[in-house]
Amino acid sequence: MYDVLTVREDFPVLKDVIYLDNAATTQTPVQAVSAMLDYFYKYAANHGRGAHRLARETTNHYEDAREMVASFFNMDVANTIFTKNATESINVVSRGFPWKKGDHVIVTLVEHHSNLLPWMRLKELGVELTVVKPDQGGVVDPEDIRSAINDRTRLIAVNHVSNVFGSIQDISKIIGIARQEGVKILVDGSQSAGNMPIDIRSIDPDFFVCPGHKGLLGPQGTGVLYIKEPDMIEPIFLGGGMVSSVTPDSYKMEPSPARFEAGTPNIPGVIGLGRAVQYVKELGVGSIGKHEISLAKETALRLGELDAVEVYGPKNRAGVVSFNVVGMNSHDVAMILDQTHNICVRSGYHCAMPGIDHLGVKGTVRASFALYNTVEEVETLVKTVSDITSLLS
Ligand SMILES: Cc1ncc(COP(=O)(O)O)c(C=O)c1O
Repeated sequence: MYDVLTVREDFPVLKDVIYLDNAATTQTPVQAVSAMLDYFYKYAANHGRGAHRLARETTNHYEDAREMVASFFNMDVANTIFTKNATESINVVSRGFPWKKGDHVIVTLVEHHSNLLPWMRLKELGVELTVVKPDQGGVVDPEDIRSAINDRTRLIAVNHVSNVFGSIQDISKIIGIARQEGVKILVDGSQSAGNMPIDIRSIDPDFFVCPGHKGLLGPQGTGVLYIKEPDMIEPIFLGGGMVSSVTPDSYKMEPSPARFEAGTPNIPGVIGLGRAVQYVKELGVGSIGKHEISLAKETALRLGELDAVEVYGPKNRAGVVSFNVVGMNSHDVAMILDQTHNICVRSGYHCAMPGIDHLGVKGTVRASFALYNTVEEVETLVKTVSDITSLLS
């Protein structure tokens, strides 16, 4: 296990705040920021274009980042595509999949809007959607997904970890069901990538997406898309950098990943992401996950002991704890936490309205943990929430 206090020195902003909004975005370590500064100060140029030394150096650093991300998840570089976030990764699949009228897609009620709306919009193409309900803790029974499959089902899109409940889906089982039934499967790893070990070759989904700016600790504006069979997806963006030949009336696309990366990419962001992933790898994703889960368990347990607090989600959770102070709006609680003790948490719907509606509430307060959070921060959170509840009596 790494030393949390030493790790915190790599995240200067943590001196001023208790940052518990890691499910929205995490802080980026100085090592990754300094890799981005090196790009700007020492060799900035475009990627994959130009023979001069700066262009070559930029291309090498960008492709090194791809190798780092690919090896982190045990996937081939040819299947490792950079996007600007998880949302774009999902839209690339939903727009580029070879749909036919009458096709059927399955999602769950605990998806982030990013893994719901792109599938909902397919109605325009005559593609039907089934939304499978989880239990009250946000866990989906894989057999309910199996029961929703019919002979027109082409794809299942499911989260690995819910950003509202912190529930962990049995992704291996769900992928197994998809394989048995001959249905493609997309896993939204936005809340699991960098928070738990993921070996893509071993779990073998058709598509895997995650942002670079959450558990992977990269900068905002970075995302990852894995496509097992890249040629089955028609790119939604066409332009420079993704073609091998063009005539006035035709073009030939490069193979993946270039096929999906039209235009100048977020070069500094990807270079920062590569360095951040190396940082996560060096600390050990297993240790990071254990640490986050233990903080979340402690938080859920301690908050659950307070009379006026309702805690949501299953016992067996990832590093996310949603709760409410009964009788108080979640935004008011979040404001008080910030103003009195510099505690940053998320409040409201968390871009997951159907999931929150399933709880029968109008939003939650969400504390979400990262590798750099401490037991002392949990203490301060619980004590401050307890003080807030006493305002009510
Ligand atoms: C489960 C889940 N899916 C998708 C997303 C969207 O990620 P991004 O904002 O990087 O597109 C999020 C972001 O919170 C998320 O938690």
